[in-house]
Amino acid sequence: MAKSAKKTITRYRCAECGYVSLSMVGRCPGCGSWGSMAEESPLREDSSGKIAVSRVEPISSVDVLPEARISSGIEELDRVLGGGWIKGGGVLLGGEPGVGKSTLLLQVCAEMANAGRRVLYISGEESAGQLALRAKRLGIKEKNIDILCDTDLPAMLDASSAYEFLVIDSVQSFRFDDESGWAGSPNQVRTVASRSAETAKRLGIPTVMVGHITKQGQIAGPKILEHMVDVVLLFSGERSSSHRLLRAEKNRYGCTDELGIFEMAENGLKTVADPSHLYWSEGGGAVSGVAIGVSLEGSRPLAAEIQALSCATPYPYPKRTARGIEVNRLQLLLAVLERRCGIFSRSSDVYVNVAGGLSLQDPAADLSICAALASSIKDIPIAADTCMMGEVGLAGEIRPIARAHLRMKEAIRLGFKNVVVSAREKLSPPAGADIRITKVPALSQMIERLIK
Ligand code: TYD
Ligand code: MG
Repeated sequence: MAKSAKKTITRYRCAECGYVSLSMVGRCPGCGSWGSMAEESPLREDSSGKIAVSRVEPISSVDVLPEARISSGIEELDRVLGGGWIKGGGVLLGGEPGVGKSTLLLQVCAEMANAGRRVLYISGEESAGQLALRAKRLGIKEKNIDILCDTDLPAMLDASSAYEFLVIDSVQSFRFDDESGWAGSPNQVRTVASRSAETAKRLGIPTVMVGHITKQGQIAGPKILEHMVDVVLLFSGERSSSHRLLRAEKNRYGCTDELGIFEMAENGLKTVADPSHLYWSEGGGAVSGVAIGVSLEGSRPLAAEIQALSCATPYPYPKRTARGIEVNRLQLLLAVLERRCGIFSRSSDVYVNVAGGLSLQDPAADLSICAALASSIKDIPIAADTCMMGEVGLAGEIRPIARAHLRMKEAIRLGFKNVVVSAREKLSPPAGADIRITKVPALSQMIERLIK
């Protein structure tokens, strides 16, 4: 008997998390969402029972094209991207309303148009008049920027082949008629993002999609959105400050630890020339509880001012409050100070703040946090020309850190005269530099030397 010919296999994919199931289920086994499974285009099975795939080839035989980066024209953004846009790469830019996403992208369009590229800015949020007004405020006069303010995204995507850079502002504002749900619903957001990313890949155009974020700081919409794109950028900033930080949450073509720093001015976003001065104010008087560390944000060293305050508590359980570092890290370092250095804070409330709203994950900041804490608890200031960098272990030892040379160069540039590091650090002052390197093996010795 002749074997039955090709059979089709139907798969069901979750609109929320992308989980694939071969049977229809009401609740996604991957993420637990109800009613999110939808049928996908079927796979074909051949007569031998294998899934028919168009072309299988060894990875070593695939031609690798040299990775051509296209500069965005904005150095801070290029750094976060890992060198610039990639042809056909999909980028998702998230951020709170009003942080400056549209402003940044319009400035990028202007820079790219200035470099002779044709760019298309598709907006579903603002009218042509509003975009033109922003362009006027930013002083943009480039002729090569085309704008499209409509909600018919499929037609606009079809029209985008003549361009070399595409902006879609935002994935939450468009709707595909052949999909159910209102604009911004998980189904629609997924479709808008996947069709846009598909178009970008097919035409080889770098494409940026703007994404709203939720109150928790996540990009609104299904998690799968972040899997569809190559790069996810987050643009953030505090309402009270004009500084804006750009980070990559995901980057298929580069690292994710670079930081872009901007300042929102009257006529657009400006690059901050000397970011260390944002987080550290030179010439501050000697006050107890202040210590300066040199942190690494990606490849960039930044001076970070740690402020600590301890004061007698009226409560049976003293408070520990931290801004810019995790409270668990503060508790751990207080425990090390108590056990290894005899510095007690059991009857004090302790507050720590990293100046300028910087958030520190770098382990090298341990030493400056401990120094600030000890200085506040003992109420003895640390010399203003001293900075420190080192990781603190539970035994109270000071450990070497990554890229100490780079950090020391920044300390020299900022005019520090004394830098405290681990005794195991292989570091010597550059010829002619007016800096002393104090090497200490343990936290207790650092405190003896600096806080006396
Ligand atoms: P916008 O780019 O519209 O934010 P988003 O797209 O993230 O919602 O930026 C809006 C804010 O930025 C608004 O509060 C006004 C301010 N702004 C400036 O301060 N300077 C400028 O040059 C521009 C264009 C905007
Ligand atoms: Mg906007």
